[in-house]
Formats: sequence, structure tokens, C-alpha cells
Amino acid sequence: MAPAPPLTGFPTVRPRRLRRTAALRDLVAETELGVSDLVAPLFVREAIDEPRPIESLPGVVQHTRDSLRAEVEQLATLGVRSVILFGVPVEKDPLGSGAYDPDGIVQVALRDLAADVGDSVVLMADLCVDEYTSHGHCGVLDERGSVDNDATLALYARAAVAQAEAGAHVVAPSGMMDGQVGAIRTALDGAGFDEIAILAYSAKYASGLYGPFRDAVGVEIAGGGDRKGYQQDWRNRREAVVEVLADLEQGADMVMIKPAVTYLDVIATIRELVDVPVAAYHVSGEYAMIRAAAANGWIDGDVVALEQLTAIKRAGAGTILTYFTRWFAERVAEATR
Ligand code: PBG
Repeated sequence: MAPAPPLTGFPTVRPRRLRRTAALRDLVAETELGVSDLVAPLFVREAIDEPRPIESLPGVVQHTRDSLRAEVEQLATLGVRSVILFGVPVEKDPLGSGAYDPDGIVQVALRDLAADVGDSVVLMADLCVDEYTSHGHCGVLDERGSVDNDATLALYARAAVAQAEAGAHVVAPSGMMDGQVGAIRTALDGAGFDEIAILAYSAKYASGLYGPFRDAVGVEIAGGGDRKGYQQDWRNRREAVVEVLADLEQGADMVMIKPAVTYLDVIATIRELVDVPVAAYHVSGEYAMIRAAAANGWIDGDVVALEQLTAIKRAGAGTILTYFTRWFAERVAEATR
């Protein structure tokens, strides 16, 4: 039987023409991920002599003061110009005083880094007390054991000033207390730090994806509790709008959605809504899932990491906090060598 004659003029829309070569695909790509979009989350632990690996975050460590300095230098050489610090203290107490003590581990580390890299790297500090509280909550507990919103704001205000004094360019409140951005802005301005920016974790969900992070900072919530009383319910998208607008009204300079891949709809909604920079946090569980599946040979981890980070950017986040930052920067350096 004679083959059917080729169809002519149909289909008229043929997107595959532009997918034929890598160069063509690059030409028409709508989204570009760059090293300057990324922020490296880094952990610094008080009173250790050697960096300690974090089992559930392969490739990520708890740094010593010195290894942190070396890491930031190396990241800068690779073109990474933004880091966010988390502290692991020796002592914890009910108020989380290590978060605002001028000699608390993050403040000490900020001073080190400010001396090393000056303004060439953006130094961000996560602003919360959960790494420092004996009960593991992001605030002070009242007599019924729930987190006291307004008493907590006073602690955040002190922590913001301590971080700014130590050299943070950006403070990033992550505790999801109502009014936290306003309290911090007022405290910073009152202490002469009106130039210090606030990256608000505005829409932070009570996610199951923070597990490895809690290993990284040694946080266990007392009594098997959770953070559902202050972090957002994952059933809610419109509520993220309320949170973001409240933070902007109180003086947030950038807003963040967290986690990232399970909340791409929220990222897209917020990107449409506001004109300030929008960030997203590709969190520890998102990183760990990719690394674990890749270690089993079940997915190609590099491909999936790139796919997820690009999706976060495509959804509308111009800034991404991710544990893949160093990997991505090394990849780019390799490709351009
Ligand atoms: C709170 C804080 C958390 C993360 C960033 N800041 C933990 C939490 O809310 O329980 C999680 C980050 C991650 O999972 O990578 N200080």
C-alpha cells in the first residue's frame, strides 16, 4: 500500500521547530536562573572545632566560626553574593536569649564575616528564637504554654538590633508573629539602623518539610508540639495575601514564601500582586528528598534540582534561598571554564 501523502499546512502551530537544538532552546527560553538569584543558607555552631555533617542534609554542615569564614570566601569566589545565617548555640533558655545576646553565635559570626567580606556579600540573618529556646518554639510561652505574640515581638526587636549591630545587611524574621515586621522596623530605626533591610518570611506554612533543618539546628518542639498556631495552614492561599500586605504595610522590603515547590501557586499570586522583590525558600525537606531519591538511583538529582529551582523562578520568585546554591554556582563555573 502506498504511504499516506504528508499533510500540508497542518498543524499550523509547530512549537517543536524551536526545540530542535540546544541553541534554539536557549534563544527562546523564558526563564533564566543565575547565581545572583541564589542565597546560601549556612549553619554556624558555637564551640566546635571541626565542621559537623548533617545526616539528613547531605553536603551541608554545621560550621565552626573559621570554616564558615572559609565557606563564605569560597562562595564569593564562585559568584555567590548572598548568604543567610542560622545559629546553633550551646545553651538554650526559655526566652532564647542567644538570639539577641551580642555574643550569641550568629552575632559573633556576622562580625567575622563583616570584617572579611565587607559589603561584597549580602549578609542576612534569620531572625527567630526557636534555635535558642529550650522548648523549641519561635517565641515566649505564656502560662498556658502557647506562644505569646506580643511578648515575643519585644525579643525579636532586640535580636534585630543585635544582628544589625553585628553587621547584618538584611534581617529575616521567620517566626510568623503578627506585627513582627513593624516591631523590628521600629526597633531598627530607633537604634539608627534605618538602612538595614527586612526580608519578611511573610507566607510561611506549617510544613512537614522542615525536618532536616530541625536536625541541623538541634530543635525539638517540646511535648511533640507543632507550629500550627503561628505558621500558615497549607489549605490557604488567600491568607498569604493578607500576610504579605500586612508585612508591606509594616515596612518589609522583600517578602518570602516558604516552602517553595509545594507553594508555586502562592508565589505566582504574590508576584502578580506586589512590586517588591519576592523570594522563596527551597527548604531542607525539598533538598533532602531530591538528594535521597538521587542516592537511591531513582531520579537524576542534578536534573530535578535544576528543574525545581527553575520552576520557582518561573513562578515568580526572583530570589531563592536554597541548599543547592554552592552546587549551582560550581556548575556554572564549570560550564564557563
Ligand atoms: C525558624 C526557621 C525554620 C526554617 C527557617 N527558619 C524552621 C521552622 O520554622 O521550623 C526552615 C528552613 C528549612 O527547612 O530549610 N527559625
